[in-house]
Amino acid sequence: MVLATALPLILCALIASKFIAARFSLLFRQKLPPGPSTLTRILDSQSNEPMAVKLRRWSQTYGGIMSIMDFAHFGEPTIVLSTVRAALDLLDKKGSIYSSRPRNILAGEICYRGFKGPLQPAGDRFRKFRTIMNTALGVEASKSFRSIEDFENKLLLRDLILEDDSGKHRPCIRLPYVPLLVHASITWVQSILHFPPAQKNFSFNTRGDLVDHFPILLRLPKLLQWFRMKARKQGEKEERFFSDCFNRSKEAIDRGQSVLGAITPALGKQERFGWSNSEIAGILSSPYIAGVSTTRGSFDAFISAVLLKPEVMKKAQAGIDSVVGDDTMPNFEDSHSLPYIRAIVKETLRWRPPIALGIAHATTEDDVYEGMFIPAGSTVIGNIYAITRDTEVFPEPEEFKPERFIDNPDPIFKNYNLTFGFGRRICPGQHIASDQLFLFVSRMLWAFDIVPLESITKPSSQMHRGPGSPAPPPYKLVPRREITRSMILEHAIDAERELELWESYSWDDATK
Ligand code: HEM
Repeated sequence: MVLATALPLILCALIASKFIAARFSLLFRQKLPPGPSTLTRILDSQSNEPMAVKLRRWSQTYGGIMSIMDFAHFGEPTIVLSTVRAALDLLDKKGSIYSSRPRNILAGEICYRGFKGPLQPAGDRFRKFRTIMNTALGVEASKSFRSIEDFENKLLLRDLILEDDSGKHRPCIRLPYVPLLVHASITWVQSILHFPPAQKNFSFNTRGDLVDHFPILLRLPKLLQWFRMKARKQGEKEERFFSDCFNRSKEAIDRGQSVLGAITPALGKQERFGWSNSEIAGILSSPYIAGVSTTRGSFDAFISAVLLKPEVMKKAQAGIDSVVGDDTMPNFEDSHSLPYIRAIVKETLRWRPPIALGIAHATTEDDVYEGMFIPAGSTVIGNIYAITRDTEVFPEPEEFKPERFIDNPDPIFKNYNLTFGFGRRICPGQHIASDQLFLFVSRMLWAFDIVPLESITKPSSQMHRGPGSPAPPPYKLVPRREITRSMILEHAIDAERELELWESYSWDDATK
């Protein structure tokens, strides 16, 4: 009896040890990319630099492609890419084997039950998710969101003016003004006027929990898995919210209304993809994770940039004034005539990438690159912060210089998208984000002089921090024309009226 129970266990242990031995011998025979030893990393752990900055510093010693081993994931190293060439060679050109995601147990599997697109590993479900995202948010489809972007931007300008009147220091652009994601992801049924800051409710820690390092904890009886309860509670709350959004949109479609957003293509493919309603709701809510604070962060980065470089602001304003009159705001149609504004948008994204470390990819097959071995199952980080500071491509990388993008035919500059990630995982919301940023930059500079409240000569250390986009230093907005203020207030009334047509529905309603 004892033998009957023990035998399968012994067999499993033998097979596992054989596999582990084979893997180890492969790793030792092959040359992994160089990287800091465990001791170096421990000794360096005192420094409180952001991880993206630290990894960039190490890459200056170990090279543009580095490996890091940790005990919990031995045999599956973390590979860090820090140059444009390495990132494009591997994540873009070899996208067929570099496009998975590392296993994410707590957030991906327990909290989101495998429904969240950005955390999904390569496979059938990922392919379907991307089909929907690319259809709904691609170059042409993204243009259908422009009228909402226009209205939202007008309300943002109004509120910025009113906030300035109150004399309060504005630490950063507030979140409710980039909720287009709501529409893009699920539905038209939300109104920005009632939506709470999404990030507050969606700030679930997505990486690095104990169970992710020690999956063996999943073998404990479920009752003893203390981490499970909090994660599931959060997941259930979100599922309820997004399912409600989904149902409302579906009802509208059934009533014959035309509904913007990814829900329409997703419903069209529901049967073929074999998706349940809650699966669609979960998958379509993905832009919430990926798109809200990023877009807002870029708004703040732009403000910081022009506070540091007022000459950029003046040059841009001269360009805008020669194309757009005093009595009309810049619009999407002016984009072709405003190359310097388009260059500011790209340089803002390059200068302060909102997701400094990108979202980690994972390999699905062994690979060899320039004589270095990259095993299947490696986590691969494209350190966007380092890549956008690759001096081979971007000389003087800390300088905010939109000119580097003017008349530059190199595809890296012409179609700049390094800030949006790589290969098959590249951000599907990049066109929407760039459109929003274009409108924000052009209208802010058309309407205001952006003036620092205190003298700034160089970026503060906070402005240098890698991850995210730090709040700009204190500033005020000085309207450039007599009529600016009244125009903005009038446009906002119209925008508010237009947006009233969009049904409102809030997180608080859904989750109370
Ligand atoms: C300035 C704004 C934005 C930046 C800098 C940004 C950046 C990124 C980055 C770096 C990734 C990871 C790509 C990779 O794995 O290589 C990503 C993924 C993603 N982004 Fe964005 N993003 C922005 C705005 C948006 C918007 C507006 C949306 C939706 C409307 C969006 C939707 C997504 C989705 C769904 C993913 C996951 C893709 C996947 O895993 O396949 N993002 N984004």
